[in-house]
Amino acid sequence: MPEVAFEVMRVADLTDSSAITVAATLARDPSLSVRILRLANSAFYGMSREVTSISDAVVVLGMRTVKSLSLVAASFPWLHKALHGKGINPTLLWNHSLTTAYLVRSMATKKGIQDAELPFCVGLLHDIGTVVFAVWKENAFGNLVSRAEDEHRPLDAIERETYGFDHAEVGAELCDVWNLPKVYGNAIRYHHQPSLPETPDVIADLIHVADFMVRERGINEGAFGQIYQRDLGAFERVGFSDEELNEMLDSAIAQCEELQGSERKAA
Ligand SMILES: [Fe+2]
Ligand SMILES: [Fe+2]
Repeated sequence: MPEVAFEVMRVADLTDSSAITVAATLARDPSLSVRILRLANSAFYGMSREVTSISDAVVVLGMRTVKSLSLVAASFPWLHKALHGKGINPTLLWNHSLTTAYLVRSMATKKGIQDAELPFCVGLLHDIGTVVFAVWKENAFGNLVSRAEDEHRPLDAIERETYGFDHAEVGAELCDVWNLPKVYGNAIRYHHQPSLPETPDVIADLIHVADFMVRERGINEGAFGQIYQRDLGAFERVGFSDEELNEMLDSAIAQCEELQGSERKAA
């Protein structure tokens, strides 16, 4: 992942960082900046005029949205190229991650969470540990995925059985190694079992619910037959009805399709 993208995530969270700081950080990676500009000008954001520079994008779209955009722009090519191992299809994983992120953002907005871009970013990275497994255990990971399917068991349970840890833990550790704000690792660590910690994390709850809903629609990372254990406590705490969730999911799927069209052109 380009270092500049991380730095944007870090500086965009600091209250005293200005649009100029974010723009100056991004200026160090011209190819990333170009892709962010393309995304900002895509039909998705429906701008009435052209966004001409990164500092312009920060002014028009806001620092937090530019942060999300840089994460989307940075992780799309990375997720697409990094996976040579069997078992995980990068396109499916990308679809799954992005749709989950959009649903998380809708739920966060509806719940009145002030910075909905933060849960969006965490949602986008929630299965990043799967990428680590797929790269690290290039060939063996495919067998784990097949086992989850054949035995109708959760993939994370088989990961724990085989390696002693699962992709949620690996993803959380990776976020810490990347020096992302603590909230990333905390939420990602518990996205399969958000009721486990004494004080459940709001973002972990949102990701769990979104992850479940998105998978129910068949948008998963490639392990189609595996069971996804539902954490009812998280559903209760999040508190949306099935109808509300499905409505938000419909628009998350539409948003994902729209953004992907412009991302493909930008890639
Ligand atoms: Fe997961
Ligand atoms: Fe997931």
